[in-house]
Amino acid sequence: MLRSPFRLLPALALALPLFVSAPALAQTAATRSLYDRVGGAPALTAVVGDFVATAAPDPKVDFTRGGSWIASDAAVFTLKKHLVDFMAQAMGGPKAYTGRSMKVTHTGMGITQAQFDALAGHLQAALVKNKVAAADVTAIMKIAASTAPDIVEKP
Ligand code: HEM
Repeated sequence: MLRSPFRLLPALALALPLFVSAPALAQTAATRSLYDRVGGAPALTAVVGDFVATAAPDPKVDFTRGGSWIASDAAVFTLKKHLVDFMAQAMGGPKAYTGRSMKVTHTGMGITQAQFDALAGHLQAALVKNKVAAADVTAIMKIAASTAPDIVEKP
């Protein structure tokens, strides 16, 4: 029986996009920003909501600094917005953070390393709760730790 080499053409035509798109997809996943990988602003808003809800009442964090920071609805709203924007910018998101610097914001609060670590623990738990991939949790916690020199005033 005569087998034409051309009879394979339809199958090749179907398979070709797979060969072309597989490396393209791999490249996209590797080059997507941390911000996009975790799900952008909606995901960060959920993380910050959970994070503030558990960190704010924790005496090990003492977020209100002995009650001197008043957690009014307006203050909490602005804090959450700034936290989302700050994280988004640090994770390669499209919008710039326009709040005050970490140094200016936290100067005079007398934040200890233990309080910083307690807060970081709440952030990590919120990331895990919101199903952020383990490698991305590690990357975000590195970013959080990098802010310590500007925030911690007491050992
Ligand atoms: C991972 C470490 C931390 C990050 C990334 C961070 C980030 C921020 C950001 C973005 C703001 C908003 C700044 C603004 O509104 O202009 C803020 C405000 C604030 N942070 Fe932090 N923070 C951290 C650790 C802490 C810790 C450990 C405490 C206390 C134990 C704390 C207490 C506060 C308070 C009380 C405010 C409100 C200040 C105000 O509105 O005047 N922060 N923080």
